[in-house]
Amino acid sequence: MNDDALLAEQMAYYKAGAAEYDRPYAEYEDLQTLLAAVDDLPIAGDVLELACGTGQWTSRLAARAHSVTAVDASPEVLALARARTASPTVQFLEADLFEWQPPRRYDTVFFAFWLSHVPPTQLPDFWNTVATALAPGGKAIFIDDGPAAAAYEQVLADQPTPTALRQLDDGSQYRIVKVFHDAQTLTDDLTALGWSVRIRSMAGNFIGIAEPPPTPG
Ligand SMILES: C[S@@+](CC[C@H](N)C(=O)[O-])C[C@H]1O[C@@H](n2cnc3c(N)ncnc32)[C@H](O)[C@@H]1O
Repeated sequence: MNDDALLAEQMAYYKAGAAEYDRPYAEYEDLQTLLAAVDDLPIAGDVLELACGTGQWTSRLAARAHSVTAVDASPEVLALARARTASPTVQFLEADLFEWQPPRRYDTVFFAFWLSHVPPTQLPDFWNTVATALAPGGKAIFIDDGPAAAAYEQVLADQPTPTALRQLDDGSQYRIVKVFHDAQTLTDDLTALGWSVRIRSMAGNFIGIAEPPPTPG
């Protein structure tokens, strides 16, 4: 399966599964611990949240930010996010992040459980887009699954892009991109692209804080 088809199926999965999305947040204490960790992260100013989903993180970001622009491709999850988020400083946008270019710069670019859904071949472009979305002194802050999470996924073998199979309550199945980044490799890859990065593990996940390469001149 090529990446375009895989990314379309990934989008279809989140559209179809919007109503089921919040269940792990209610069930897993680790996710509650991670959500609470946001309060100690250097979130500031105008924040861009990529792949905001049902808005689990959005209000917490808004509480620390001047404004939040939260982007997701699925109108179904955005409807849930809007219902959950009362803040007048939050704007939701529907867009495909593999096409969308940020129209301005932000002090913080935040993404939770999104990096693992970006195909490895697209990571240099992705990080470049994040860098150009950051104002001088701005930071990217990201949270995702570490390698241990692979034990809870149906990982499909021998795929050109790391792929997992997910199933919804109605039995429908979807292939998604799922890259279980190892903190050291991710640190090395970002450093090679010129970023300054600190990644720490928390509750089986990782939290990264990264500053882009200085712009020439
Ligand atoms: C794992 S969820 C993360 C949601 C939220 N950040 C969280 O941590 O709860 C991935 C999100 O990516 C969104 N998504 C999938 N493909 C996308 C695309 N091409 N552009 C924008 N968002 C996309 C899905 O709709 C879904 O809300």
